[in-house]
Amino acid sequence: MRVLVIGSGAREHALVTALRADESVTSIICAPGNAGIAADIEVLPVEVSNPDAVAQLAVDTKADLVVVGPEVPLVAGAADAIRERGIACFGPSKEAAQLEGSKAFAKQVMSEANVATAQAHSCTTLDEVAKALDEFGEPYVVKDDGLAAGKGVIVTSDRHQALEHADNCFAQGAPSVLVEEYLDGPEVSLFGITDGVDIIALQPAQDFKRAHDDDEGPNTGGMGAYSPLPWAPAGLVEEVTASVLQPMVDAMRRRGTPFVGLLYAGLALTKRGVRIVEFNARFGDPETQVVLARLKSPLGQVLLAAATGKVAELVPLEWREGAAVTVVVASKNYPDSPVTGDVITGIEEANALLDVDVLHAGTRITDEGDVVSAGGRVLSVTAVGDSLAQARERAYAGIDLISLAGSHHRRDIAKRASE
Ligand code: AMP
Ligand code: GLY
Repeated sequence: MRVLVIGSGAREHALVTALRADESVTSIICAPGNAGIAADIEVLPVEVSNPDAVAQLAVDTKADLVVVGPEVPLVAGAADAIRERGIACFGPSKEAAQLEGSKAFAKQVMSEANVATAQAHSCTTLDEVAKALDEFGEPYVVKDDGLAAGKGVIVTSDRHQALEHADNCFAQGAPSVLVEEYLDGPEVSLFGITDGVDIIALQPAQDFKRAHDDDEGPNTGGMGAYSPLPWAPAGLVEEVTASVLQPMVDAMRRRGTPFVGLLYAGLALTKRGVRIVEFNARFGDPETQVVLARLKSPLGQVLLAAATGKVAELVPLEWREGAAVTVVVASKNYPDSPVTGDVITGIEEANALLDVDVLHAGTRITDEGDVVSAGGRVLSVTAVGDSLAQARERAYAGIDLISLAGSHHRRDIAKRASE
């Protein structure tokens, strides 16, 4: 099977790494990729937000399966364009991707599926925002309705800051913003692989969304992750599959817009039970790096089954014993205005460590052959071990060998869970 992977982050580097380990995958191409992916396999340029360009590349590369990593091409309709050309695609249609593309749409489907989420008001003026803030009380949660790479949400006890965020969203053209009830409790990311009818869950992971240690600083795309979650209640995956993932798949199918691909449930385990924080229409980044590091089953066959309506025929997934931890190296000033173009050193040394894999995100190779930063999140240093403590020690040993001027990373990824 020939596979084309679309995207350029550490998530795609993790997908490529796992696909290379599947014997049924005879060729993998990634577009547009990054410096790390290019060191492993062939990469080709593509404009990911142009569905026809993505689909044409699938034809040109004779792909049997296309795996679309990021949300932007999915929301633009890349999966539809690929399937129209008769090529199997792991990724939802444009309409189904609205589960991630519009938070208001997601709330609508959740209500049809009887899935519990935060109460919310969709507001179109600052006056409505102010009223909604006062109704829910602090901490205040204000969200841009559309795609914002994890940066469209503010959670704050400062009413002025909450209003200011809403004002900024409106100023940037958002037709509406959501004001939500605050969900108190640990967050879990659970991924389900679905063909639009059946869904199977992967192992859960936890992401660290804030930029700095102790959950300080602004929200980011994600600064690190670990799996498994030793503190999670037994049976959580089965419960959420039955009460959240399957009902959402059923509701999407009933609407005539079946969801094919990866359904990502962002959960909060509140005192009142499991609540949905958000759905995403694709693999999470950085959670994918740790989840796939633990997956033993052949990834290509699993994704092909989902793309071709055969999830019910899959044998149960197999997982490695032990744990995985990933720590993200972010460029100076990420997430506000990342500084790029600086040389990164120490990648080879870190990769040489036992069970450490340096996955690339925003990197590129210069004409001189240097690897330089080219995005906000630059590397995702991933390690496996017998325990979370060992995986964590290994990941940080890798991190400590890498240097990039002005970069930052968190020191507390998986710290509490491993103690
Ligand atoms: P979202 O873009 O909806 O995924 O939100 C990004 C992050 O903001 C989540 O992962 C949470 O950490 C936080 N967040 C979003 N909504 C809520 C909420 N209702 N209560 C508490 N935290 C939230
Ligand atoms: N790690 C959060 C996300 O992928 O949206």
